[in-house]
Amino acid sequence: MAMVELSARPGKPLGLTPAAFMRDFWQKKPLLVRGAFPRLAALVDRPVLFATASRKEATARMVWRNSPRGRLRLRHGPFTRGELARPPGTQWTLLVNDLEKHHPERFAELLSAFGFLPRWRIDDLMVSYAVPGGSVGAHVDQYDVFLVQGIGRREWRLDLRPEGWRLRPHSELRLVSGFRATWRAVLEPGDLLYLPPGVPHHGIARSECLTFSLGMRAPALGELFGALADAFLERDPPLLLSDPDLAPRRHAGELREEDLERVAAALCAPLRGNDHFAELLASFLSSWRGKPAAAPRRARFDPVAALAAGQRLRRNPWLRALWWRRADAVRLAVGGRVFSATPRLAELVAGASGFGRDELPDPLPEERRLLRELAAHAVLELAPNGSAVR
Ligand code: SIN
Ligand code: CO
Repeated sequence: MAMVELSARPGKPLGLTPAAFMRDFWQKKPLLVRGAFPRLAALVDRPVLFATASRKEATARMVWRNSPRGRLRLRHGPFTRGELARPPGTQWTLLVNDLEKHHPERFAELLSAFGFLPRWRIDDLMVSYAVPGGSVGAHVDQYDVFLVQGIGRREWRLDLRPEGWRLRPHSELRLVSGFRATWRAVLEPGDLLYLPPGVPHHGIARSECLTFSLGMRAPALGELFGALADAFLERDPPLLLSDPDLAPRRHAGELREEDLERVAAALCAPLRGNDHFAELLASFLSSWRGKPAAAPRRARFDPVAALAAGQRLRRNPWLRALWWRRADAVRLAVGGRVFSATPRLAELVAGASGFGRDELPDPLPEERRLLRELAAHAVLELAPNGSAVR
């Protein structure tokens, strides 16, 4: 696999158009872009990251080693301020997940730069803080990731060989054995490294540094099957395999190719081109990997009056949302619930930014109803006053 290196250009943070990126790189090969997001340092600093890592709903990890060749150790957070003030080991990294959910107003603009990707594919924005030498080891991830240097310098080493390395069994850090760096580069603030799933990589802080990782994890087909299977199992009477085309057999004990094809087709048939499938899939995807912090807190405000008074609203950032078109309407799934919507309100609710009167002037009666329903289910909340949620 060859490595491609580009420079960002005005209006093209990836150095090429989204269409060219998707065609040539997405899920295919890594890409380095110099100068992609030069102003990330303003979005989060060490105190904000540490404070976030000590919130009770935080997903955070500390990875450290006591000497350059020592064994990597891992501890899960959240961490108390005291623990963060006395980190273990000499070379350590603090990794904090879900920054875009903890601080939606800070990261909305960054996420909108990735608006060419389906939003439901974006898992989270993780930010790591490392002291010089800090590293989480040579490892392999199962998801696409955009790694952007925020502050300081980090050296990245990639093993671009299709084989010669292997995932260590039972490694929580997904460490690989036999890693050989076939490419390396030092990323400066603003530089971006895109990695498709399955490329072994090793990042080593060359100074005190903050690294942003926008991760796009895809659901495992087994999980999708499980979610759909539940819905099939609930059918009463159950959907049965039917075989009106069955031909006479010479060997009654034989399972034939045509039997396999009939079963595969029967499993897929109820999923094709019908609203029920869209509903099941959207409801699954919108609640997939939901976090406990998404537990609904019932809103005590009227969203319609709030909009009219000039306040901005936003989706509870811990809830994932997506919408789809049906013949006669638009449906919106949020956190596993499905609602009827208008196209503009569905996109505003599913968006990374909040919205106000400017984006939703004169809501229609059905939009007012939906706004109130969403607030009643704690899907909508008031955006913090005066914040730059645009
Ligand atoms: C890091 O930020 O230190 C590690 C991110 C990664 O390799 O996935
Ligand atoms: Co990684």
